[in-house]
Amino acid sequence: MAIESVDAYLDSHKDAFEDQLKAFLRIPSISAQPAHNADTLRAAEFVRDDLIAMGCAAELIATKGHPLVYAERNDAPGRPTLLIYGHYDVQPPEPMEPWLSPPFEPTVRDGNIYARGATDDKGQMLTHLKALEAWLKTAGTLPVNVKVLIEGEEEVGGASLEAYVAEHPDRLACDYAVISDSSQFAPGMPAITYGLKGLAYFEIVLRGAKIDLHSGTFGGAVANPCNALSVILASLKGPDGRIQIPGFYDAVRPLEDWERAAFAKLPFSEAEFQASVGAPSLEGEAGYTTLERKWARPTCDVNGIYGGYQGPGPKTVLPCTAGAKLSFRLVPDQDPKTIAELFRKHVEVVCPRGVVIEKFIDHHGAPAVLVNVETPGVRAAVKAIEAGFGKAPFFIREGGSIPVVGLLKQQLGVDTLLLGWGQNDDNLHGPNEKFSLADFHRGIKTSAHFLAELAKA
Ligand code: BES
Ligand code: ZN
Repeated sequence: MAIESVDAYLDSHKDAFEDQLKAFLRIPSISAQPAHNADTLRAAEFVRDDLIAMGCAAELIATKGHPLVYAERNDAPGRPTLLIYGHYDVQPPEPMEPWLSPPFEPTVRDGNIYARGATDDKGQMLTHLKALEAWLKTAGTLPVNVKVLIEGEEEVGGASLEAYVAEHPDRLACDYAVISDSSQFAPGMPAITYGLKGLAYFEIVLRGAKIDLHSGTFGGAVANPCNALSVILASLKGPDGRIQIPGFYDAVRPLEDWERAAFAKLPFSEAEFQASVGAPSLEGEAGYTTLERKWARPTCDVNGIYGGYQGPGPKTVLPCTAGAKLSFRLVPDQDPKTIAELFRKHVEVVCPRGVVIEKFIDHHGAPAVLVNVETPGVRAAVKAIEAGFGKAPFFIREGGSIPVVGLLKQQLGVDTLLLGWGQNDDNLHGPNEKFSLADFHRGIKTSAHFLAELAKA
């Protein structure tokens, strides 16, 4: 039986797979930092070369930014076609000080591999490549048709991929996409994610006087952009945790009773969650539970504030500019463009006199997604997870965003299977990012079985 040979290959190649993961993680492919452009290219080449080594004709596709890696095999005429998506770029590792081992020197502690990109997304993405390898090295062929599309700009908004999908819908045509770039519900509780939030990200810069001024001589007579920025930011949310931009909730699809009941049945402890994040209390929109807030209600967070004197000791200055980066996480059916217009109008209305809005930058947006779970593809994924993890998956939503999922739905009409192998405490985007090696191998096995199950679907 083909699948038995595949399983045997996986068992005998665990060390080799871990060595390859380490080699991949040593490449600092930080897409946001131009100083790392050569490294980011090396990560793309690593993926391409791995695909070629297992027998997939893979190529780099040049873009205005970091290249895409693409490969396909049409081994199974008449059977489904699966698009495997992942990203080889990583977030910046800064701040460096809290890392217990350097971010690009992968280190194993307690069964976890620690490195930037371990879970997001190099480790998770590699699970699918190793599953393909196991099939090709044993059966010599894949049980379904496969297209592999790996991008290098996911962490910076994915503009190049967006353009490519719009221009090449025929090349990417498929029945399902699969992405492993999310998390399990909890350790030992694998999950299929059927909902992700969207994103609308902005930066605003206010200007007052033409230069910084003495805060005694000029204070009280000239508006202060830092004060004005605080007024704007404080206007965004009310004491009930609701966003106060007129029209913001108009398109929000309300949570349905069945879904609230399903969330409430999940084994989730608010107290344990609070302890795990170390916050003095849990806060959010009134009338909703933590899981509802995290997964299915829109949110607003200031991601950074700048302006004025930041050095040691006091400085009595009245700064001439101030800025903030902030983002809204969106839910179905909010449109990022509409939110941008509503937000801009709101800022103009509440902006105090005496300062001007020098910059209003709309950084990037993505719509939220809900995936149909009543499909043969999802049923195949359930069986594969049972084979790989020994347990049936929970069905969950998540608060993160994976812009390509909405893109594939809009441009190609394709549903994505979000099969995350990570854990909620993997520290993605933060210091000491990690990925469980046991979950790495379970993910590979699940992916290998998924190809077989999809062939039957
Ligand atoms: N892997 C994450 C998305 C994710 C995180 C999904 C947690 C589910 C749970 C992805 O790489 C990511 O970080 N995406 C960005 C998107 C943005 C840069 C457009 C995000 O969510 O901030
Ligand atoms: Zn990420």
